[in-house]
Amino acid sequence: MFSQRIARAAASGTQRITAEVDRLRRQGVDIVDLGAGEPDFATPPHVKAAAVAAIDEGFTRYTPNAGVRELREAICRRYLDDYGVAFEVDQVIATAGGKQALFNAAMALFDAGDEVITHAPGWPSIVEQVKLAGAFPVAVRTHPEDGFRLHADAVLEAFTPRTRAVVVNSPGNPTGALVAERDLARIAGKAAEHGAWVVLDLCYEQLIYDDAPHNLPRVLLEHLPDRFVVSGSLSKDHAMTGWRCGWAIGPPAFIRACNTVQGHATSNVASITQRAAIEALTGPQDCVAEMREAYRERRDLLLRLLGAEPRIRCVQPGGAFYLFPDVSELLSPDGLRTSADFAQALLRDGRVAVTPGEAFDAPGFVRLSYAASREQLEEAARRLHAFIAALDRA
Ligand SMILES: Cc1ncc(COP(=O)(O)O)c(C=O)c1O
Repeated sequence: MFSQRIARAAASGTQRITAEVDRLRRQGVDIVDLGAGEPDFATPPHVKAAAVAAIDEGFTRYTPNAGVRELREAICRRYLDDYGVAFEVDQVIATAGGKQALFNAAMALFDAGDEVITHAPGWPSIVEQVKLAGAFPVAVRTHPEDGFRLHADAVLEAFTPRTRAVVVNSPGNPTGALVAERDLARIAGKAAEHGAWVVLDLCYEQLIYDDAPHNLPRVLLEHLPDRFVVSGSLSKDHAMTGWRCGWAIGPPAFIRACNTVQGHATSNVASITQRAAIEALTGPQDCVAEMREAYRERRDLLLRLLGAEPRIRCVQPGGAFYLFPDVSELLSPDGLRTSADFAQALLRDGRVAVTPGEAFDAPGFVRLSYAASREQLEEAARRLHAFIAALDRA
């Protein structure tokens, strides 16, 4: 009935949980939602004010497809300040979230028969976008034993003559793991020899809690200046998920290709959002530091609360706002058989929403978002422990 392209791709598993939570809440069920991948903070007031001013001034028309120059300059300035790397305006396109930046890249770079290496557990849209482009995703597995580190050796081994690109996400969703500069340098070096691209998803780049070196844009520029893509977003660090503003940075010819894709799909990011984004990038940044500190405290709190149950094994994540514990010891052939069963029963009986590892190609795990208040995290942990105690009694 539909295209082969649609038959190949799966619907978003993370959005399915959101829909289920919505349904239960409409029935009046009190759910603690640790399933959603978005900040619980409000968008900072100065950013909202810039959008209101844009509306009042009548800044409500089409803009250039890639975004207004001032926004693209602000994105360049952010990378200069944060990483010491100088990008030009013609190397930037503003997109409807990081998701569209990555989708544009998939459409612009991948063909039927290409292989695209990425890592698992990982954010599902990366793999589905590769499939929508007609290419084959090749997942390199990372493991909790070493903090879900992406080993360059494993990526290099996955290269074949058909490898077209490697897509890397750091900090990673759902693991929170950071990719080491030296690993990315080796991957980029191999891509350079091979004529492949490296696409780097930095959508959580401002939400890093440990003092680890993470100048990945510089690594790409040094090793692969002609075939790199950096994508970023305001969704997570500025609590702007609904505004839809991200970007892709890459060689000018790549940006022109993205312009072609986007120009026939959505055109420019909403003009009002663009004004808000300029303010977010160039205005005061203390709001980001405050949110980051709050996430760090929540991460530590939730780790401590989960630690009361030894059968939940959890790595301390370096960034993003998720814990990704292994719950396989709580599964059994005659009870909850999979982490999807576990998440479903926890939602139904424990009234806590989490996302099953299956959504991230990692059965046996669940993802808990700690972008929730202290009270919600404490209540979620109480309910989770009660749910597990009831499982033990059953
Ligand atoms: C790893 C990763 N990349 C990109 C995105 C895209 O977010 P947005 O399109 O809101 O910028 C998300 C959102 O959940 C994500 O987790």
